[in-house]
Amino acid sequence: MSAAGSIPSSCLHRIFRAAELREKEAGVDVVKLHVGDPYFNPADNVAEAFIDAVRRGETKYTGVEGLPELRAAVVDKLRADNGVDSEVSRLLISPGSCQGLAALLQSLAEPGAEILLPELHWPVHLQQAVLAGFRPVLYPLGADLRPDPETIAAAATPRTRVLLINSPANPTGVVLDRSEIGALLDLARSRNWQVISDEAYEHFVYEREHVSVASFERDLPVEERIVHSVFSFSKSFAMTGYRLGYVALANDRAADVMKVAQEANIIGTSTPVQYAGIAALDSRHESTAANRKLVQRNRDVALPPLIRAGLLHELPAGGWYAMLDVGRTGLDAETFAARLLESKGVAVVPGEGFAMRPELDAEGRVRSHDFAPWARQLIRIAFCVDQSALETGVRKIVEFVDECGDGGPTSAD
Ligand SMILES: Cc1ncc(COP(=O)(O)O)c(C=O)c1O
Repeated sequence: MSAAGSIPSSCLHRIFRAAELREKEAGVDVVKLHVGDPYFNPADNVAEAFIDAVRRGETKYTGVEGLPELRAAVVDKLRADNGVDSEVSRLLISPGSCQGLAALLQSLAEPGAEILLPELHWPVHLQQAVLAGFRPVLYPLGADLRPDPETIAAAATPRTRVLLINSPANPTGVVLDRSEIGALLDLARSRNWQVISDEAYEHFVYEREHVSVASFERDLPVEERIVHSVFSFSKSFAMTGYRLGYVALANDRAADVMKVAQEANIIGTSTPVQYAGIAALDSRHESTAANRKLVQRNRDVALPPLIRAGLLHELPAGGWYAMLDVGRTGLDAETFAARLLESKGVAVVPGEGFAMRPELDAEGRVRSHDFAPWARQLIRIAFCVDQSALETGVRKIVEFVDECGDGGPTSAD
């Protein structure tokens, strides 16, 4: 069996299909709180730039690295907004940050190498790590679901090569502050690890500031840098379907290796989409501020009833997901999600899928897996959806929890 054939399908895809089926079979409009797809659209100049590029015939391959004009615009943005000292030679455009991450992992993987991921993680990070040939090591999160350097150091082994940092985090909404990032980076440097920083939600930080991990390395000689940063146009600019992202590699050697991976993977990123990306960066200050405001308003208006119902501890500091604890219903999250979809037409993701613990065989295939037991009572909702849909969804979740009662139904009623 291949490594891919051994990986269980992600919970995200399962619930996606279940919601679609429910709509088709029962003819009901499902309130979709399971996907991180925003209800708002890209700024007008983005679509115009895309269409103009197509009309001008800018539809041939670009180089594997991406359009020089877009790479230059991204480097300017990284310097001005993120405090990251990148260079065009170390900056690769990718068809979505998910693909950039996959190629980066492929280019860092060595036989037997381990990657450190949090026990509560975005399932795609785990899938990609296994596909690339890494052996994932899942470390427990500390208080308030924050990564703790001591716990991470204890989980690491001499085979550890990479630490993945994701702030703001999917699914927890945790935003790391400067001192936390500094401590993680000190640990990585002291152990000779590489760091991957997934900053897909960089523009969705509410009361605090977003700190780019690579900004700590701006004064270091390039060859000593260890942080590879991955960014997305999907969330910041509501460009999920355009498929556009970029990777700022730590140094030229890493960029050369990833270029080889991308030559084999993609040949190049869609050309008109890259012109749309240039337009998105041109108007980024207005659009990212407006988009953050929309999601923050959703969070502030729609989520407090979940706190009052004892399902949510506090408002997420960043990103656009919240993890709810539905333990008091007596249902496990899988059953909770299935019954909620069936009886209330609301789709949410059971938390177990974010806490898979795979056992790998010697060849790097998943031999067996279980789930962190505490995740059995968690569900994830996305709060980037239309405000009234979100309010309806939240009302129905609270209603459903009330109907279950404390320690609620355990039989198949
Ligand atoms: C943490 C995280 N990283 C990366 C991505 C990938 O985004 P995209 O491939 O659309 O750029 C997502 C998408 O949900 C995500 O949640």
